[in-house]
Amino acid sequence: MSGFEVIIYQKRDGIGYVTLNRPQALNAYNIQMRDELYQVLGAIRDDPEVDVVIFQGAGEKAFCAGADLTEFLTAPSPIVARQVRWERDIWGLFLSIAKPLIAALHGYVLGSGIEIALCCDIRLASDDAQFGLPEPGLGIIPAAGGSQTLPRVIGRAGALEILLSGRWVRAEEAYRLKLVNRVVSRAELLPEAEKLARKMKTYNPLAVSYAKQAVTRGLDLSLAEGLGLEAKLGRRLPVSS
Ligand code: COA
Repeated sequence: MSGFEVIIYQKRDGIGYVTLNRPQALNAYNIQMRDELYQVLGAIRDDPEVDVVIFQGAGEKAFCAGADLTEFLTAPSPIVARQVRWERDIWGLFLSIAKPLIAALHGYVLGSGIEIALCCDIRLASDDAQFGLPEPGLGIIPAAGGSQTLPRVIGRAGALEILLSGRWVRAEEAYRLKLVNRVVSRAELLPEAEKLARKMKTYNPLAVSYAKQAVTRGLDLSLAEGLGLEAKLGRRLPVSS
């Protein structure tokens, strides 16, 4: 897929690469990025040639410095602007993708940036990464799922502290909080993500997809229901012997 301006989408050997590409604005998430990302996510979901996806940010300083503040200030009202975003339900689409999604995070990972990362399954960070949710300081709340996804990943107390205090968390602390799976050097970030992606794509894509669904859908169920879901998904896989 080509013709995008603020997202680069590439496919190589079964791996999709999504690059947020507004480095001059620290990859701030604007309406155009939302629209392009929406198309790219649809393609990822439906394309049988893509088994696993890596998300990254262009430039040296940021994965994504959050919602575009210039657009935010010129929009008819923050509430209307946020409503438009919800109507497209890009976050529902993101979370519905049953393929492994890896976030390769460097520099500033703020607001929508951390929320994109939280829609992914595995988060790798370089040692220069900094995470935060500045929304309450701007008089708004996260609108890309962060108020729901962050506590599900790191727990209630940590999520509330980050959200309510506006404190930024550096890579090592993010690792201790289990916000990221691993911290590597900046030079190792993409190679590590690719190593993981290449390993995952050697497996049966259906088994990988069901394993992801068993975990992600199961987390919203009771244990008994989750075990039922696991059994149901397991029965759908062809028996190998
Ligand atoms: N929206 C729009 N533009 C942004 C942006 C955002 N969220 N974040 C950074 N930019 C732009 C800056 O305006 C600047 O543009 P310019 O060169 O035309 O002046 C460029 O990106 C570089 O940012 P700069 O602030 O010069 O970099 P820095 O290293 O000094 O500071 C930050 C980095 C992240 C601390 C700072 O840019 C910042 O606080 N950004 C806003 C974060 C935020 O509140 N996001 C909203 C979350 S809901």
